[in-house]
Amino acid sequence: MTEPIIDPFQRAISYLRLSVTDRCDFRCVYCMAENMTFLPKKELLTLEELDRMCSTFIRLGVEKLRITGGEPLVRRDIMTFFHGMRRHLYSGALKELTLTTNGSQLERFAADLAAAGVRRVNVSLDTLDEEKFARVTRWGRLPQVLRGLDAAQAAGLKVKLNAVALKGFNEDEIFTLAEFCAARDMDLTWIEVMPMGDLGNEDRVGQYWSLNDLRAKLAETYRLTDLPENTGGPARYVRIEETGQKIGFITPLSHNFCESCNRVRMTCTGELYMCLGQEDRADLRPALRNHPGNDAPLEEAIRAAIGLKPEGHDFDYSRQRADGQVSRHMSHTGG
Ligand code: GTP
Ligand code: 5AD
Ligand code: SF4
Repeated sequence: MTEPIIDPFQRAISYLRLSVTDRCDFRCVYCMAENMTFLPKKELLTLEELDRMCSTFIRLGVEKLRITGGEPLVRRDIMTFFHGMRRHLYSGALKELTLTTNGSQLERFAADLAAAGVRRVNVSLDTLDEEKFARVTRWGRLPQVLRGLDAAQAAGLKVKLNAVALKGFNEDEIFTLAEFCAARDMDLTWIEVMPMGDLGNEDRVGQYWSLNDLRAKLAETYRLTDLPENTGGPARYVRIEETGQKIGFITPLSHNFCESCNRVRMTCTGELYMCLGQEDRADLRPALRNHPGNDAPLEEAIRAAIGLKPEGHDFDYSRQRADGQVSRHMSHTGG
């Protein structure tokens, strides 16, 4: 390994989140507009280019690689890429290969993912009610995702559910979801809705439900104990003493966790975003494409980009919506 990458605020970058497609088979109301236009496929990095990018990041000290989208499992032949990454797990350079998925394709891919060295998956699931699920995803089918969860567990994958907290939508499901996860030995993390992407018709300020309130509601029924940090992610955890279950909270708005940020994100077109909530980015494609067979310029471009990582994000609902909003969609940078 060459010298690891340290950003201007002395944070070592060890975690790459890579979006492999902007496409998705769902259209969650807080994530996408119903009539999203997607990138022409020819603009995406090829699977070989994705491999070369990731391998370079791993050489520079990235130890955790999370594949996201859009929905990563709708990218054609994506398993070829996963199987390619397995060599970095074998060599010990990569400690964790994982993905965040909506679960729609897990039934098909779970066993193969496990064979490629994936040990954990994060599955986005905001409700256990079929009708509400169809409403929030616009056309997703809950039973298909539930079968995906079963398949993942049958393949030996550890599953974490991510639920976006939405006012007036899943407030009444915090206990149902906790019990569902406890019964299946799955972790559960709640996420505050973030003002990403112009969705036209959605009111994110109205949807916003602070996780402080959610936690207070849980605490009316359960004894909650704060747990010390953590998996290297932005979640903070509590334990429900009555069940022993761990619940995570990702609170970019009510409590930001930027000071310990260890990550950067790459889009499916090879743009490196230094922060989910900022527009600072660098196009790594020229360094990749203009120097076939020589990774030195790419390494240099990555170091230079990370030298521009900002101290923190700018999301803010207390200001006017237009100010706190990031115009890019979450699916563009992969959450
Ligand atoms: P683990 O800790 O490995 O389980 O992963 P994670 O929580 O980092 O990954 P996951 O994809 O499950 O992240 C869930 C969501 O948390 C993301 O989709 C984002 O919505 C949010 N999130 C993750 N990282 C960041 C971050 O750096 N900043 C902000 N604001 N939100 C983040
Ligand atoms: N705010 C918070 N979370 C979001 N996600 C997508 N859009 C948003 C948003 N605007 C979440 C999904 C999934 C992860 C990849 O990102 O629910 O868990
Ligand atoms: Fe697809 Fe995930 Fe966005 Fe929903 S939140 S539309 S599942 S990428």
